[in-house]
Amino acid sequence: MGSYISPNQIAKMSNPDLLRDLDLTDDELGYLLDLAAEVKQAPRDYAQALSGKYISLLFEKPSLRTRLTFELAIKQLGGDSVSCEGPIGSREPLKDVARNLERWVQGIVARTFSQSTVDELAEWASVPVINALTDLYHPCQALADMLTLREQFGGLRGLKLAFVGDGNNVAHSLMLSSARLGTDFALATPDGYEPNPEIVAQAEGLAATSGCTLTVTHDAAEAVDGAHAVYTDVWASMGQEKEATRRRKAFQAYQVHEELFSLARPDAVFMHCLPAKRGEETTDAVIEAQRSVVFEQAENRLHAQKALLLMMLS
Ligand code: CP
Ligand code: NVA
Repeated sequence: MGSYISPNQIAKMSNPDLLRDLDLTDDELGYLLDLAAEVKQAPRDYAQALSGKYISLLFEKPSLRTRLTFELAIKQLGGDSVSCEGPIGSREPLKDVARNLERWVQGIVARTFSQSTVDELAEWASVPVINALTDLYHPCQALADMLTLREQFGGLRGLKLAFVGDGNNVAHSLMLSSARLGTDFALATPDGYEPNPEIVAQAEGLAATSGCTLTVTHDAAEAVDGAHAVYTDVWASMGQEKEATRRRKAFQAYQVHEELFSLARPDAVFMHCLPAKRGEETTDAVIEAQRSVVFEQAENRLHAQKALLLMMLS
């Protein structure tokens, strides 16, 4: 882990936006995790870093963690935020929304249904855009999760992270981050709910370079076997509510219950991005168990996003 990073020596991200996980280079990802650990340890040192900066938060979908941790992160770094809820680009073209916002704020955080919405905002806005979850990616979640895993085990290389459930936005971001950081990643999904093949191909290339393994299977026990962490997420993501009944049937054999969790290492942790549906993708017993780190993950959203904001906007 890194040494102290002074608030006036923070390395800037080479890419202006974080629209997808790979917008951070491998080195920048490692640096961000080090910076997040510093910020967590000494938050007051960074309390003026965004002084005089304003950031707009645009949310097309509900949020507890992402929205509040971004608001808090911005305020605790000395900046301020303005927010807007509802569909983006329905009252006026996205290119107009982007060119309004860039006149008022120094950065945009957006949670949208479609990845193309954040991509188009970034194409038109001259200020940085951060993806706060789309249908394809949840990069801010993966940053906090890798920070959490690193805290739990003292490093990331050589760990095995198992994800059981839907090949969704959270799975994609975790797969890409694990592959780059040398963490073996095993994903078990039901037939028909596999991750995006292009993202899997990208992650396979990254895993080959970093020297770790990437497994995509339909066998939950195989994925969990010997894992350091077992992760799950809701079976129907925001925007898929109409598919909930069909998905509940398809995912029945993919619940992370105590028996499945017991196939992981004895010191394994349970992870979930939250919100969770107890009785569906996991049980109350697993989420409330001593080895559950779901609230550590939630806390680390704040610290990881502070590091991201510092690298993009300070
Ligand atoms: N994990 C997560 O992104 O939570 P919210 O949907 O509450 O922001
Ligand atoms: N996959 C979930 C994550 C919520 C934080 C969703 O997109 O709804």
